Amino acid sequence: MLEPQPHSRHNPSELLARLREVRGTTAMAGVQKAVEQLAGQVQNDHFLLSELKQIQASQTLERAHYYVDRLIKGLTVVRTPEVSDLNLNRWKEYNEIQTDSLWIIPRRDGTGVHKADYWGNFVPQIPQQMIQRYTRAGEWVLDPFCGSGTTPIEAQRLGRNTLGVELRSDMVEHARRLIESELNPHVVSQVIVQGDSSRVDLAQELKSAGASSVQLAILHPPYFDIIQFSENPNDLSRATDVTNFLQRLRAVVSNVSRVLDRGRYLVLVIGDKYADGEWIPLGFQSMQEICNLGFSLKSIVVKNFEDTAGKRHQKELWRYRALAGGFYVFKHEYVFLFRKSTRKRNAR
Ligand SMILES: C[S@@+](CC[C@H](N)C(=O)[O-])C[C@H]1O[C@@H](n2cnc3c(N)ncnc32)[C@H](O)[C@@H]1O
Repeated sequence: MLEPQPHSRHNPSELLARLREVRGTTAMAGVQKAVEQLAGQVQNDHFLLSELKQIQASQTLERAHYYVDRLIKGLTVVRTPEVSDLNLNRWKEYNEIQTDSLWIIPRRDGTGVHKADYWGNFVPQIPQQMIQRYTRAGEWVLDPFCGSGTTPIEAQRLGRNTLGVELRSDMVEHARRLIESELNPHVVSQVIVQGDSSRVDLAQELKSAGASSVQLAILHPPYFDIIQFSENPNDLSRATDVTNFLQRLRAVVSNVSRVLDRGRYLVLVIGDKYADGEWIPLGFQSMQEICNLGFSLKSIVVKNFEDTAGKRHQKELWRYRALAGGFYVFKHEYVFLFRKSTRKRNAR
């Protein structure tokens, strides 16, 4: 997915030679003719076709040469952001990478072992987006609320390693089974351990796995008590009240922060809650806790909330309740994006 498309029937060096010839052409008509021929030979390569079209549509020879130079650069020079492998010189090819703060994801990715069988698992597109934008191949991702293993499954596909922590031992086994039944084309490690993420010695777990730190953390905690995941008193869904939930979340983030490299990203996926006729802004309250720990807020993404199987059947009932009760039915959750400070004194 990260690789730009191959140049269809083109041999890359032949394509470059032809483009350099175009660059040496001194008449606009000659440029247009050569580019037209090239475009006729390029199939199913959206990036290349659109670049060639732009050259053809140039009003002046100077402009056409500028676009040819840009295309040659796109094909020969790799320029990446600080924390990913995306080639900025070919940015137009990454159509599937989100850059807007509103995500409408109509359908969850159900390919391979991904299933919606764990009540409360997130759509695989969330870790997929985050891993592509905020890690490089071979780096480590930490998911301290690993659940059914959506993050490590995505990481394995994308060639990243994961340390996953999950309180429920049945889910640890489940996630391990799913990961094992997926191909591991990049030969990376997906390590899932059982434990309470506020206390697990993450540095030790990483050391046992051959790593010393992580480059991205993806946190998808319980949304307080909306779904009760277990009877375990350490389960965040067993928090006694919102204040206690926030304290526990803070303890997990502090523990995670110890092994997250400076300047790297932490993602929090969470929704709000409704109780006693009041909207509880759990998302923003959690966001504030993380900011208070010294992380800087980079983005707030609002993502559409799929109807759960239960709610789908009760859609009309919810609509009636909303009209009668003067509230709005939840249709969104948040993906908060934070960056750990590059300075030592702020890192807690
Ligand atoms: C919202 S789910 C995460 C689902 C996951 N993203 C997936 O796609 O399957 C939250 C998970 O956190 C786990 N959990 C709750 N408290 C925890 C704690 N203190 N330490 C580790 N895991 C915890 C729950 O058992 C549950 O599986």
